[in-house]
Amino acid sequence: ISLKPYNTFGIDVLAKHFVSVSSIGELKNILTLKAYPDKLILGGGSNMLLTKNQDALVIHINLKGVTIVSEDDHFAIVKANAGENWHEFVLWCLKHNLGGLENLSLIPGNVGTAPIQNIGAYGVELKDTFVSCEALSLKTNKIESFSKSDCDFGYRNSTFKQDKKGKYIITNVTFKLSKKPHKLNINYGSISSHLEQMQINNPTIKDVSRAVIAIRESKLPNPKEIGNSGSFFKNPIISKSHYNTLIEKFSDMPSYTVSDNEIKIPAGWLIEKAGFKGKRFGNYGVHKNQALVLVNYGGAKGIDILNLSKLIQKTIKRLFDISIEAEVNIL
Ligand code: EPU
Repeated sequence: ISLKPYNTFGIDVLAKHFVSVSSIGELKNILTLKAYPDKLILGGGSNMLLTKNQDALVIHINLKGVTIVSEDDHFAIVKANAGENWHEFVLWCLKHNLGGLENLSLIPGNVGTAPIQNIGAYGVELKDTFVSCEALSLKTNKIESFSKSDCDFGYRNSTFKQDKKGKYIITNVTFKLSKKPHKLNINYGSISSHLEQMQINNPTIKDVSRAVIAIRESKLPNPKEIGNSGSFFKNPIISKSHYNTLIEKFSDMPSYTVSDNEIKIPAGWLIEKAGFKGKRFGNYGVHKNQALVLVNYGGAKGIDILNLSKLIQKTIKRLFDISIEAEVNIL
C-alpha cells in the first residue's frame, strides 16, 4: 500500500506489508510473527522523511482512548493511548479545563510519538507535564513502565531516540495536568503580544491555545495543504567563543543562552541568512515563512528533499562553521 496518507510530508512510497493495530493484544501477536523480522513502527508520521519503498512490516499504531486516572482539587492525572492525535488530545484537555499542554497546540503527530523527541513549542516541553509512559518491548513482548527520569528528556531528545531507539513501542502516556487557577506560560516569543492583539486581559488556557494556533498558522505550513514535517533541523548549540566570533560578523544573529559556555542559535535564521528561505526547486523547497521547514508542494521524492537538506547543511557549515542536525528521521 502507499504510505502517502500516513506521513505528513506526503511522500508517496510503498510498504510491502502493512498492518494497523488497535489493541495491545493484536500488537503483541503481530510482534511474534517470525515471517517479518524487520518492522517499522508508524505513529502520526509527522517526524519522518521516507526516501524509499519500505520492505519492513509497517505497523501503524492506532491505539485510542483518553482517561482521567485520578484527580484532586488541583490536578488531574490523565492517560492517553498512543494512537490519539496530539492536537485532538490537547483540545480534549482544554474542553475539560485541564492546563499544561495549551502551548503545544497544533503540533502534528500522535500522543505515542510525542515523548520520543520531547515535543516542545513556545516555552513548554512535553516533559513539563509528563508523568510516565508504557511501552512494549520488542525483545520481550512485555509492557514496561518508564518514569520521567527513565526517559532522560532533553531538547528534542529522550532515551527512545538514544539507547532505546527502535527497541520499544510506546503504548500510552500519562500526564499531570492542572486545574484552575492555571499557571500560564506566555513569555515566549509573541504569545503575549498576540493576546494583546486579541484584546484579552485575563487569558485562559483556551486563549493561550488560540494565540499559539494563530502564530503557528501564520508561520508554519498546514501539512494537509503542503507536505512537511515541521522543523527539519534542530537548533544547533555552539560554544561561547564561537558565538563571539560570529556575532562580530552577524550582529543581527538571534541566540538563547543554554549554559555558561553554550549558546543556541535558531537554525531558521542561519538557513534564511544562507539564502534558502522560500527557495523552490520544482515540487519541493524551503518554506517562505519559516526557513526551518522543508516542504513538499506535491509529488516530491523523499530523496530530493534529503539532498536539499544536505546542501543546506553543507552551506551552513561553510558560512558559519556550524553543523546542523536533522530533527526528522530519515527512512
Ligand atoms: N528565524 C529567522 N528566519 C526563519 C525562522 C526563524 O530569522 O526563517 C528567527 C526568528 O526571527 C526568531 C528565531 O529565529 O528570532 C526563532 O524562531 P521561532 O520562534 O519561529 O522558533 P524556532 O527556533 O525557529 C522552535 C521549534 C519549533 C517551535 C518554535 C516555537 C526547534 C527545532 N523548532 O523553532 O518547533 O514551534 O521554536 O517554540 O526547536 C517543530 O519542532 O517541528 C517545530 C515547529
